[in-house]
Amino acid sequence: MTYRRRVLCLLYVLAVVPSCVRVRSWQETEEITMSRLGKRSSGFAFTSSEAHKAPHAKKPHEKKVPHHKRDAGWVEGAPGPSSHEGKACMGEGCTYDVMAFNAVGDGITDDTKAFQATWRAACQSESSVMVVPAYYVFVVGQITFKGPCKHNLTFQIEGVIIPPTDLAVWNKLSNKVQWIGFYKQVGMMLRGSGAINGLGEVWWSQPCKAADHGRQRCASPTALKFYGCINVSVRDITIQDSPQMHLKFDNCQQVEVFNVSILSPGWSPNTDGIHLQNTGYALLQNLVIAAGDDCISLQTGTTDVTIRDVVCGPGHGISIGGLGQGGSQACVSNITVQDVLIKDTQNGVRIKTWQGGSGVVQHVTFDTVTVVNVQNPIVINQFYCDAKECQNDTAAVLISDIAYSNIRGTYDQARCHAPVYFACSDTVPCRNIKVDNVELLPAQANFFTSRPFCWNSYGASDPLCYPPLCLIDDPFVEESDDYFC
Ligand SMILES: *[C@@H]1O[C@H](CO)[C@@H](O)[C@H](O)[C@H]1NC(C)=O
Ligand SMILES: *[C@@H]1O[C@H](CO)[C@@H](O)[C@H](O)[C@H]1NC(C)=O
Ligand SMILES: *[C@@H]1O[C@H](CO)[C@@H](O)[C@H](O)[C@H]1NC(C)=O
Ligand SMILES: *[C@@H]1O[C@H](CO)[C@@H](O)[C@H](O)[C@H]1NC(C)=O
Ligand SMILES: *[C@@H]1O[C@H](CO)[C@@H](O)[C@H](O)[C@H]1NC(C)=O
Repeated sequence: MTYRRRVLCLLYVLAVVPSCVRVRSWQETEEITMSRLGKRSSGFAFTSSEAHKAPHAKKPHEKKVPHHKRDAGWVEGAPGPSSHEGKACMGEGCTYDVMAFNAVGDGITDDTKAFQATWRAACQSESSVMVVPAYYVFVVGQITFKGPCKHNLTFQIEGVIIPPTDLAVWNKLSNKVQWIGFYKQVGMMLRGSGAINGLGEVWWSQPCKAADHGRQRCASPTALKFYGCINVSVRDITIQDSPQMHLKFDNCQQVEVFNVSILSPGWSPNTDGIHLQNTGYALLQNLVIAAGDDCISLQTGTTDVTIRDVVCGPGHGISIGGLGQGGSQACVSNITVQDVLIKDTQNGVRIKTWQGGSGVVQHVTFDTVTVVNVQNPIVINQFYCDAKECQNDTAAVLISDIAYSNIRGTYDQARCHAPVYFACSDTVPCRNIKVDNVELLPAQANFFTSRPFCWNSYGASDPLCYPPLCLIDDPFVEESDDYFC
């Protein structure tokens, strides 16, 4: 690193200049991916019955008072072990360690109540830190951390959190929509080098999860969900093996996800990485996502989202949609996807809408996307349907002002529909699609290149794109008020 670069990085640390994060080359990023993926087999991936044998959980409690226990603080009157030393902390900036609230962390005992009690205490003071300490494995059942709390709360995960794996425990609940939830939180950071491990295998292997159950597949919980939040940040943690989606934001504003790894096998059903819905002003940056469904999925109501420096794969790529299902209105705008590497996935960057919807997807930019052995690198599909059969309809969600530039790499020709696939509605064609500097080649040698597919897709492309594109020039499609949100 040059002196200049070091100074720049220091400035970054101080001022959070995002551009400085991009000092890694793709090769380095890939190595990091691989080494992080390696973590799966060696460290965090275990079943709860083995949890107490796992290296991270092995440290005997008596050995010496771990550092985190020494600084742990608690609110007067709150339960805490009598051996706990350190004075009660009440004002600002106190640390609330789950161990001080009688969590056990042996990977077997249910620590849900201890987590709830720690949260209640931490929530009440300004700039508090709730700590889930390293070397322990905590079994936590379905839990909602309710806010709003006092500002600047930090939820620090250094250990591992796992759910009860006995599905009978889950079946007693009135809903299984989510496992760990944060509700109406304002100004919060969730961070740490620990992990949230959903131990999803028990869910994935249920017969009702099989692909042929289509949309009737049985419901499973999202691992980590934020609802109604403002200014929350999730950093550094690993979220793995979720029963269903890994990280979801619904009805949130000002969201940051930074330096997070999401790891699930490619065959795990419906395990989207990050899912945004009715959420604005989000920055998703420096992420490694391996999943069994979309790495990142943007649903209706997402605006002003930047996705940058992401490594995705396996999975289904980065998707906007499916939107407009069941005749609903969808509104997605101002989305930028930049500097991403997508590898061994079903799709690269995709926009998918159902027939019969209304609304618009507009101002979307995909810039500098590297694809490696991706089945369908660029997709717009206004005929999306993952049910057995879908009704044809003339109404559609408008797709307009979509730009693709610097999209390069290879596609899996054996399973590719078309390297660039634009299937737009007959009545509501796609408008103003711009494509430049695209070069897509078959991953396998000795194959002929595949041709792009265009249907009712209007726009312009750079003539040097490879394969040459098929957009229809000079559109004049009348604008209509139905297509505004
Ligand atoms: C939160 O903490 C930061 C510094 O850590 C401080 O600048 C800011 O004022 C705090 N915000 C609130 C609402 O307390
Ligand atoms: C957002 O939350 C962080 C704490 O997580 C705080 O430091 C910062 O001041 C908040 N920003 C705004 C604009 O409220
Ligand atoms: C990313 O998170 C890991 C912990 O998972 C941490 O060790 C590393 O320092 C973080 N990197 C940055 C740039 O914050
Ligand atoms: C999208 O961005 C443009 C320009 O950056 C801005 O004028 C517009 O208000 C944004 N739209 C939404 C819905 O945020
Ligand atoms: C919808 O239209 C397509 C193409 O015209 C046709 O092949 C398909 O059978 C139709 N589906 C239904 C359910 O009507």
